[in-house]
Amino acid sequence: MSVVVTAPNPVIHPVAQREIFGALPTGVTAITGRTSGGSPRGFVVGTFQSLSLDPPLVTFCVDKSSSTWPTLRSLGRFTANILSTEQLHVCRALSRKGDEKFRGIGYEESPLGTPRISGATAWIDCEVISEVVAGDHFVIIGSIKAITPGTGEALLFRGGQFGEFTPEGRS
Ligand SMILES: Cc1cc2nc3c(=O)[nH]c(=O)nc-3n(C[C@H](O)[C@H](O)[C@H](O)COP(=O)(O)O)c2cc1C
Repeated sequence: MSVVVTAPNPVIHPVAQREIFGALPTGVTAITGRTSGGSPRGFVVGTFQSLSLDPPLVTFCVDKSSSTWPTLRSLGRFTANILSTEQLHVCRALSRKGDEKFRGIGYEESPLGTPRISGATAWIDCEVISEVVAGDHFVIIGSIKAITPGTGEALLFRGGQFGEFTPEGRS
């Protein structure tokens, strides 16, 4: 089922909106799946979140201009690969456009048949259960089928820069 979210259109400047929300740190997650012919595809989001524990659900937002999402949507399943601080190269490769993003990137197959990128801090295998149209993005809701912890520290993104979390009191 698809729900359309509309809102009044006050004068909110997109640059100001980007700047304010860009200051809010996010994780960096690669959403991966396959074409109907079996080729790996994926893209990077900062919007991946846990949504519900009972039932276990996740969510992320994808721009309507994404060329990869329609392919993943048609198979109805994806893996969310939570990238580590050692995987900046994976982030850069998958946040480009094109069909050759997986060149040189190692991965294994999940129980759903989706690619789990080697070296991620966790893999969350999901089936798509809902998609909401919200302005220039789609909000995707996925049902978690498997969670597998990996190793390493989560890569963070803030203000156009990548980094890692430093707990208070440590320099
Ligand atoms: C750190 C980071 C976070 C991003 N977050 C999102 C996001 O939440 N949603 C989105 O649609 N694109 C996001 N992007 C941009 C996509 O990864 C990028 O547009 C990608 O090229 C889309 O590829 P596609 O057209 O093959 O789907 C992000 C990029 C980076 C580097």
